[in-house]
Amino acid sequence: MDILQSIDRNKLPKHIAIIMDGNGRWAKERGKDRVYGHHEGVLSVREIVNGCAELGISYLTLYAFSTENWNRPKEEVNALMELLVNTIRKEVDELKKNNVRLHVIGDFASLPEICQKELNEAKELTASNTGLNLILALSYSSRWEITEAAKKIAQDAAKGILKPEDINDTVFQSYLNTASFPDPELMIRTSGEHRISNYLLYQLAYAELYFTPVHWPEFRKPQLYEALLNYQQRERRFGKTSEQIQTNNPQHV
Ligand code: IPE
Ligand code: IPE
Ligand code: MG
Repeated sequence: MDILQSIDRNKLPKHIAIIMDGNGRWAKERGKDRVYGHHEGVLSVREIVNGCAELGISYLTLYAFSTENWNRPKEEVNALMELLVNTIRKEVDELKKNNVRLHVIGDFASLPEICQKELNEAKELTASNTGLNLILALSYSSRWEITEAAKKIAQDAAKGILKPEDINDTVFQSYLNTASFPDPELMIRTSGEHRISNYLLYQLAYAELYFTPVHWPEFRKPQLYEALLNYQQRERRFGKTSEQIQTNNPQHV
């Protein structure tokens, strides 16, 4: 595949975050119901997980269900939870085979018990894997995550474990759900919407944002490679000037 060969393996992001959007519209455009779109979306998940694992990407975070998605019609929410359970059950062997380790971020306790059980089992079964870290954002929102972090910091300060003057960026990050993962360098959103929808607001501070009109069920390996090529053409300046970046590190920013 030509496009794959054009990707510079030394300039890959360590962490890719994706907002998998457009399942419902994709299905509607084909005269099907929204849930059909979610089922097709699972095939994209499988392909993108494999694609990232093959490329040697270390972290992939997928926005699978937001805090706000609980407000969707009950039938759709139930169908999504059922799909989650069935998918984890079906895919866990493949994850093991591909050396993928599963993690979950979000309000875990708000998920149905059966989902929690299935996810806990899959997390345990993949805990010793050393390849791609697959992080599912489930019942997740940044405002929830940041508020929870603030609450825990306040509790630790009240207990005397933490001095308010010692709170800095690093300490704050250690209270987030993503404490053990580096920040994403690349954030992809499918389906043409140009918004973040309460996703990793803190962690995406310096991420490169990539938006594509392709709906999630049609986002497969070639589309992933295209996003990576686009990412590799960008200059990441982190507040500095272009000249500084080119003098300090002409190869890789
Ligand atoms: C993304 O597709 C999947 C979830 C949010 C669970 P949508 O269901 O949001 O599909 P659209 O955006 O309505 O087309
Ligand atoms: C964001 O998509 C959440 C997930 C992909 C899980 P939404 O479809 O819920 O976002 P909005 O409502 O278009 O902002
Ligand atoms: Mg949507």
